[in-house]
Amino acid sequence: MIKAVRGTRDLLPPDTALWNFAEATVRDIFRVYNFHEIRTPIFEETQLFSRSVGEETDIVSKQMFTWEDRGRGQSEKGQSLTLRPENTAGVVRAYIEHKLWDRGLNKLFYMGPQFRRERPQRGRYRQFYQIGAEVIGPSSAGSESPARDAEVIELLATFLDRVGIAGWTLELNSVGCAKDRPLFNEALRKALEPVVSKMCADCQRRAVTNPLRVFDCKVPEDQPIIAQLPRIGAFLDQGCREHFRQVEEILSAVRVPFTINDRLVRGLDYYTRTAFEFTHGALGAQNAILGGGRYDGLSEALGGPAAPGIGFAIGEDRLVMSLNRSAQQVMRPPDVYVAPLGEGMNPEAARLARELRRHEVIVEVGDETFRLPKSFDRADKTGARFILIVGEDEIKADAFTLKNLESGEQVSVPRQELAQKVQSRD
Ligand code: HAM
Repeated sequence: MIKAVRGTRDLLPPDTALWNFAEATVRDIFRVYNFHEIRTPIFEETQLFSRSVGEETDIVSKQMFTWEDRGRGQSEKGQSLTLRPENTAGVVRAYIEHKLWDRGLNKLFYMGPQFRRERPQRGRYRQFYQIGAEVIGPSSAGSESPARDAEVIELLATFLDRVGIAGWTLELNSVGCAKDRPLFNEALRKALEPVVSKMCADCQRRAVTNPLRVFDCKVPEDQPIIAQLPRIGAFLDQGCREHFRQVEEILSAVRVPFTINDRLVRGLDYYTRTAFEFTHGALGAQNAILGGGRYDGLSEALGGPAAPGIGFAIGEDRLVMSLNRSAQQVMRPPDVYVAPLGEGMNPEAARLARELRRHEVIVEVGDETFRLPKSFDRADKTGARFILIVGEDEIKADAFTLKNLESGEQVSVPRQELAQKVQSRD
């Protein structure tokens, strides 16, 4: 038997109703915050990710699904391609490719699969889904303003509250800017020098190539050493401090609670200034529902013009796990089960179903080979509120037997009045 590949999974009904509920809710939220959808390809050139997410990150160094595409001979050279492990890089590439700075401030959102070769476990998959957003544009369009940081964070708090996720925690930090980073890296290198030989092989490498990434280490023995390292907060320049202060001020004004976590550096290299994560206790070890932050130098790193930006990505798999409701609660069962009774009744049943569906009535249709008890049984299983009998007598009278399966009431309803009767809920 061929099974789904390790770390991937099928999403089936009724669970998909929860996914649809989350997606419909977030689309409503994006609409009122004036975000618009962008769809970028699922695979990109490998160097897009190594140059943005960063060579030394776990994502690029260990987790990407990369292959050499042979091309098609003379006319098309081979190249290294990668299934996207995240979507910020693709959005910034599209920003540069389509000169989106002409539009001023871009407020973009996306939903879709991402791919990382991680060790599969609860809340961690190799194909997972993100709902994300990016606010990016020239500085003159206001893209660098702390008001944008606070707006996306407040949007997220509103969304989590709206879908009914209670008890989330927002952790906030500033990871500084291009000016602060060399000073911090230097301090980290110094602090690591006497202790790094006791750390894991990854940390020994990171200490040389990209010391900030030492904070991503999950090895338990290394944690006491990491706890003693200098924190980025002490190295922020005046501009970064002031930016962070204003983000905090706006969040307090809109009453979004947060805690400062000065160890939060996020596992991607492009972040500058504000970085944040929302966590939820119900998720266990993989407790980050979403993460995000500012990436003011990313466009330039990819060969584009200066384009400060901020964004986030919600892990939709984890979001759905934290929803405190069942698929049944968000699913609408059929309103009517149409039961054709006897040979030759299928066409009439189809006609009626079509008429009712035009009125937004949710209809399930049986088959003329089903005897009446079987039709009732099917209607019950689908959870329909009504069963509508389509037999010879009904067709002659152009009026149909409609039985309310909750109350047991049975009436004969003229064709023209059926939709109204079903929708009137009496
Ligand atoms: P990230 O923190 O790598 O950020 O991923 C965001 C979220 O995706 C995580 O908080 C988690 O909920 C979910 N996630 C990540 N990996 C997995 C996995 N293997 N299985 C299930 N869920 C997972 C980013 O991707 C950035 N692009 C976010 C961003 C947008 N920053 C600025 N703009």
